Amino acid sequence: MSHAFPSSFSDIARPLSPDQLSETARQDIERLAEQGYEIHFGLTPEYAEAIINMALELAIREYCPNDSGKRFASQEATKDWLSKERATFLLFKRNAGGLQLAGYGWVGSGTSLHVPGGETTFALRIGEIGQGQGLATPFARLIVLGSASLYGARNMWLETWQSNGGAVHVYHKIGFVDVDQEAGERPTANGETVADTRLFMSLPDSQLSN
Ligand SMILES: CC(C)(COP(=O)(O)OP(=O)(O)OC[C@H]1O[C@@H](n2cnc3c(N)ncnc32)[C@H](O)[C@@H]1OP(=O)(O)O)[C@@H](O)C(=O)NCCC(=O)NCCS
Repeated sequence: MSHAFPSSFSDIARPLSPDQLSETARQDIERLAEQGYEIHFGLTPEYAEAIINMALELAIREYCPNDSGKRFASQEATKDWLSKERATFLLFKRNAGGLQLAGYGWVGSGTSLHVPGGETTFALRIGEIGQGQGLATPFARLIVLGSASLYGARNMWLETWQSNGGAVHVYHKIGFVDVDQEAGERPTANGETVADTRLFMSLPDSQLSN
């Protein structure tokens, strides 16, 4: 494997610099900056606390219950999660008080029987303060292009639910292609279970040279 993802907390989170990135990524960074947002990489204990709080939001609990239930249930859980090799990206809103977390995402080492050749998992969350402003596409693309450039991430794949129309739209828009699907049941944020379909997608590495 060619990548080297972090496996522990960082001392600081650094802004994603347009210098080493492609023209598309530079445009995404500019577009986000015009809207008052910026992207950093690396996870500090302080921002882990912000993720722990954001993971409790309804929309995130609805589609990503393992965030508050497991991955980011506590600082200790987050440390454990990081130890499995995860490169974290933070979407910040600039405001008078400084930087406020508006979203988070990551890539990490992982495989799935549904995705032959997949070696890097991808995940995206936009918090309530950022939702519905068109931030998901540029943030997702910058996680993909940033992780490829900074850490050598390749053969990315993801899993999502068919009913999560916004997420499916964004993933297709940045170049993920459907590779498999499986009928299943999804626990909802209010404790019910609904029928849904798991979708498995992968990103051809050719998308990384855009
Ligand atoms: C899914 C998520 C990342 C989308 O982010 P968002 O801020 O709500 O969405 P955006 O405003 O960036 O818009 C997303 C795009 O999807 C489109 N869209 C929204 N809902 C849609 C739907 N039901 N069907 C199809 N397209 C939809 C929007 O029109 C927009 O398209 P455009 O960028 O081409 O104009 C965000 O809602 C989220 O993090 N939700 C909770 C956690 C989650 O579900 N994560 C994904 C797990 S796989």
